[in-house]
Amino acid sequence: MSEFSIDEKRGLYRAIYERRDVRSHFLPAPVPDDVLLRVLDAAHHAPSVGFMQPWDFIVIRDEATRGAVRENFECANRKAAAIYQDEKRSLYDNLKLAAIMEAPVNVCVTCDHQRNKGAGLGRQSNPTTDLYSTVCAVQNLWLAARVESLGVGWVSILDHDALKATLKIPAEITPVAYLCIGYVSEWGSQPELEKQGWENREALANLLHHDRW
Ligand SMILES: Cc1cc2nc3c(=O)[nH]c(=O)nc-3n(C[C@H](O)[C@H](O)[C@H](O)COP(=O)(O)O)c2cc1C
Repeated sequence: MSEFSIDEKRGLYRAIYERRDVRSHFLPAPVPDDVLLRVLDAAHHAPSVGFMQPWDFIVIRDEATRGAVRENFECANRKAAAIYQDEKRSLYDNLKLAAIMEAPVNVCVTCDHQRNKGAGLGRQSNPTTDLYSTVCAVQNLWLAARVESLGVGWVSILDHDALKATLKIPAEITPVAYLCIGYVSEWGSQPELEKQGWENREALANLLHHDRW
């Protein structure tokens, strides 16, 4: 293993800063299998507690299945909207928070809490580390997708029991991320929620502590 060249370093930081959560401007162009596999393999090379590799990836292209997930989202989103009032509510109602049908591929990333790999190393004090590991895989996927020019949108506004029923996910497995993936016609230079006036990025200096909280 050698050091990264300056261009390679730039490429990595560019992927980090230019990754976006994408909910619009998806193109219908299909995602070739080899490209999707590269992105999924990047996810599969994420760190995991005890090398547990607790993830599975469900690749969803079927329209009827995506239609059921979209209905699930719309119902969950109506409930989520209800906690906001006045100006925040109208802002919320104008946000686009999922692209389940527009994106040609959806991927559900799951966590198997009982996966027998790694013999429980690192999980005795904190069993939740299996979920953390799965989220690491999602982030790898998200960054790899960016360098493949694929937009990814994470949809968390879902009834997870209904999602498990739709995707026939066994009871002991937890769906962690539902991702909408596809080529896009444009990339936002800032988070969509920032652009829409919902939230800004906090200054790093306000979050940085030294030696104690
Ligand atoms: C765990 C998690 C859940 C998210 N759920 C949603 C969601 O349901 N709908 C949505 O539009 N964006 C969702 N997002 C995307 C965030 O809104 C987005 O990451 C954030 O606004 C920053 O924008 P950026 O990813 O483009 O930098 C989620 C992100 C994470 C990490």
